[in-house]
Formats: sequence, C-alpha cells, structure tokens
Amino acid sequence: EKAGYDYFMLKEIFEQPRAYRDTMRGKVKVIGDAKDSGVSQQSGVEIREKIDEEVAERIAKQADVNYGLPAILQVQIEECKLSVEKIQQIEKVHIVACGTAYHAGLIGKSVIESCARIATEVDVASEYRYRSPMITPRTLVIVVSQSGETADTLAALREAKQQGAHVLAITNVVGSSIAREADDIVVTGAGPEIAVASTKAYTTQLIAFFLLGIYFAQLRQTLPQDKITNLVMAVEQLPALAEQLLTTEKTEQLAEIARRIALHHDLFFIGRGVDYAVAQEGSLKLKEISYIHSEAYAAGELKHGTLALIEQGTPVIALMTQPALFDKTMSNIKEVKARGAHVLVIAYDNMAEELAKTADEVFTIPMTEAILSPALSVIPLQLLAYYTALTLGHDIDKPRNLAKSVTVE
Ligand code: F6R
Repeated sequence: EKAGYDYFMLKEIFEQPRAYRDTMRGKVKVIGDAKDSGVSQQSGVEIREKIDEEVAERIAKQADVNYGLPAILQVQIEECKLSVEKIQQIEKVHIVACGTAYHAGLIGKSVIESCARIATEVDVASEYRYRSPMITPRTLVIVVSQSGETADTLAALREAKQQGAHVLAITNVVGSSIAREADDIVVTGAGPEIAVASTKAYTTQLIAFFLLGIYFAQLRQTLPQDKITNLVMAVEQLPALAEQLLTTEKTEQLAEIARRIALHHDLFFIGRGVDYAVAQEGSLKLKEISYIHSEAYAAGELKHGTLALIEQGTPVIALMTQPALFDKTMSNIKEVKARGAHVLVIAYDNMAEELAKTADEVFTIPMTEAILSPALSVIPLQLLAYYTALTLGHDIDKPRNLAKSVTVE
C-alpha cells in the first residue's frame, strides 16, 4: 500500500500534485475561446464548458480593464449552496480549526481578505467556543478538518450554527460528522491520509481556500476580471510547479540539510505574511515527527525578545516568497546572522543569487503569485521534517503521543 515508499508520509508528500488536481477538478470555468489562445496547453486547463459567446461578451463588458488574454477564467463551486446574494452580504468570516488545519486557516484569512475584502478572523477550535465569538446572521463560519471528526472543531461548528451563522466545512471526508452537520461543504481531493502528520490534506485545504477566495472575489466584484484570470491560471499551474519540487535533486538537497538539523535541539522558522503562517506549519511538522523543539516567529518580531535565543550555529529557516517584503525580511536575516545563526532561506529561483550573499544556504522554489506561494513553499518544510525524523530513526507515520483523529475535547 505504500507503493514502494518507506513511509506513508513520504508517499503522501509525493501525491500532492495529483491531490491539487483532484481538488480543482470541475471548479475552473473557461469562458471565451481558449482553444486557439494557447491557454489550455500552457496551464492544463480542461475546457469543460462549451464556449458561450453571450456570457463571454457580458463578462468582457463588465471587466473594466483590457485583460489582454483571449480567454476568461473563473471559479465555479457547484457544491456551494450559498446564494450569490448571501455571499455578497457576508460581513465577516470566522475560520475555525485545529493544528495543521488551523495553519491552513491562517492562509485562508490572507486569501479571503486580500481577494474578497471580507474581514476574517482565525481561531483554534478549542478556544473559539469559550471566547464569546461575535456571530451574526451575516457571519460565515468556515470550519476546516481533514477527518471531519475532530471533537473541538465539531463543537465549534455546533456553537456557530446555534448562534445563527452559516457554516461551511472544508473537509477531506464526505461522510464525516462535520460534513453532515455543516450547511455547506467544499471537499478536498487529498484522498485517504494515513500518516499522522498531515501533508496533502493541508495543501489541498490551501487549494480550497484559493478557489473559495477567488470565487467570493468574483461574486463580490472585488477583483478585476484580468486579475481573476491570472490567479486562476496560476492556481492551475501549481500541480506542475509542485512536481518540480519533488525531483531527486531537490529531495537530496533537503535530506542533506536534514542530517545537519538532526544534530540540533532548537531551531527557528521565520517569515512575514503568509510566510509566517507557513513557518508555523513547518515548525509543527518538525516537532511532531522529529521531536526537536522549534519555534515559528514573525520575522519582524524577533528583535522584541527572541533574538536572545540565537547562538552560534542555531539553525534559522527563513521563508522569503513575498517580493514586497523581501527587504524587510532580509534585514531580519542579517540580524540573526550577526548573532551567529546558520540561515537556510527558501525563496524563488530568481532571488537565489542575491540571497547567496547573505544566507548560508538557499533552497529555491518556482515562482508563483505571492498569495499562492504556500502551496509550494511548505513542500520543502514537509520534506525537511521527514528526513530529519528519518535520520533520527523515529516511527514517522506514528509519532509518539499523537493520534490521527482527536475525538476528545
Ligand atoms: C498535524 C495534524 C493535526 C491535525 C489536527 C486537526 O500534522 O495532523 O494537527 O491537523 O488534529 O485534524 P483534522 O484536520 O482531522 O480536524
């Protein structure tokens, strides 16, 4: 069943490009003549809809910019029962989940706020219920759960429903308790996840948030159509880009770095914006299966205390996928370097040369839209955690003290 892999976790990491495709299936709509435009070959977009000229013309008229592309791409989420009117009336979003799914929610917040301009809060499910959340009929509560059985998340869902919110679940298990009790579901196409440490479930939750964010933006008209087309195209390209991170050359580079990480007792992950959210997920993954302590920090926050913990040789893993924040994070890297840290930077190919001047090591990922980068940048962190645990000889699929599905509060 492990299909030749040593552990389910590694198999599941390698399944991610397939899982991304399955999560997107049927959710991208092509309007306009994409056949001759090269869009379909370039992005792998399947043309599922017969070209409807009338619709194309209407949308082209609505778009107040010249999008420069012969095809118009949009997101459709047929299983989403929320009416257009309801989506337009949403005043705020609460995202509620546990563990890795909570980390996916942090990215979801960035996507929903930046694309659809809806104020979004993210809570750990075990905290949400007890903080008197301010729910109104115009609050959309999104619960995120791979298993659909997590007790804390289920309790939060019930509380939100009772207070009158519309609850949408992003889940990997169609027949689960959370799927059954939610008003709406968006299903991730990860397929069964066996390893306790979640990988493909997390990244497919990200894909679901990307699609949902773009879908809301479309209906609330918060992004021009050319931007939507570009974003959808970039989402469509993610599976192929993820494949580029799973080559022997790439995995061997990470396995070698992991052998050095395995010698340490403490390390830091830093980043800004979505990179900070990915840093939190990378740190959790490492702790779960390697049992090495690490902390994730917003890069700009280090100097407010944590810098005291940086010593000669302390490994710091810095994520730098946000061009607008490049200079700011660079100065934080210099701060830790000056205290003796050994810095590994994860950044786009085109930044490698510049970064090599300051960082000790650079691991490159393919370029994508800044907001979508987590679906790529987390992959090396998953592999780092895996190879570190492998070096230390741990039972990777069944880490100590943990269960796959937590059905107690
Ligand atoms: C971490 C991990 C856990 C789960 C969490 C929520 O790798 O697997 O943190 O993400 O227990 O589980 P679900 O998504 O099933 O609700």
